[in-house]
Amino acid sequence: MTRSRRPFFCGNWKLHGTIAESLALATEVRNGVATHRDADVAVAPTFTALHAVAKRLEDGPVAVSAQDCFWEDKGAFTGEVSAPQLVEAGCKYVILGHSERRQLFGELDAAVNLKARAALRAGLAPIVCVGETLAERDAGETLGRVQAQLEAALAGISATDLERVIVAYEPVWAIGTGRNATPAQAQEVHRFIRARVATLAADVAPRMRILYGGSVKPDNIGALVGQPNVDGALVGGASLEARSFAVIVKNSI
Ligand code: PGA
Repeated sequence: MTRSRRPFFCGNWKLHGTIAESLALATEVRNGVATHRDADVAVAPTFTALHAVAKRLEDGPVAVSAQDCFWEDKGAFTGEVSAPQLVEAGCKYVILGHSERRQLFGELDAAVNLKARAALRAGLAPIVCVGETLAERDAGETLGRVQAQLEAALAGISATDLERVIVAYEPVWAIGTGRNATPAQAQEVHRFIRARVATLAADVAPRMRILYGGSVKPDNIGALVGQPNVDGALVGGASLEARSFAVIVKNSI
């Protein structure tokens, strides 16, 4: 398949794994995707395993992502981890605004924007998550909700910095439920996201990678990435099993 954008796959390990388990999984993922050179692949372990996993993966091709960061570089912010600290630990990416952070930890759009700017300042590529709840979808508010989250998250970011931003469309009702968005539902929102990004930076929008997330599995990824605006996936549950994550990458390229 000819693609204008290089597919990207990130395994979001959430709150799973000891350091030893994370190292073992990272090694299996690296071995599993070693021959799939037509995609960028990353894994996002829990904070305590980041440095060890990054060391293990330093020869490539799998990169390391954090699952969150704070917006200040240092100071009296008990419990927080800064973007420069993530760079030092070996991260290249950071997931921001995941719906679990928004729903369980009260994270607001304004915080996602501050975090995205901090990540870019530090040299990280932010993976900015947006997505509607089931109630919002049922009320016909999907595109409005996604637009509000997207525009708030990207506010004030220059076109040059937008080049490094990845957006993940993750409908909340599809995360961890086994019920993925249909390819047509994903395509509709991905195309909309790209059109909104074009209003911010017309040159960047055609190059921006827009990932789908929500119950991605080896047997549904092909149809999803077969859509013209779906450029890869943010994978939760299925990324905890190296073989299924590798098959997801393989079935997409
Ligand atoms: P899931 O999670 O693949 O387990 O649905 C996706 C995510 O939360 O990024």
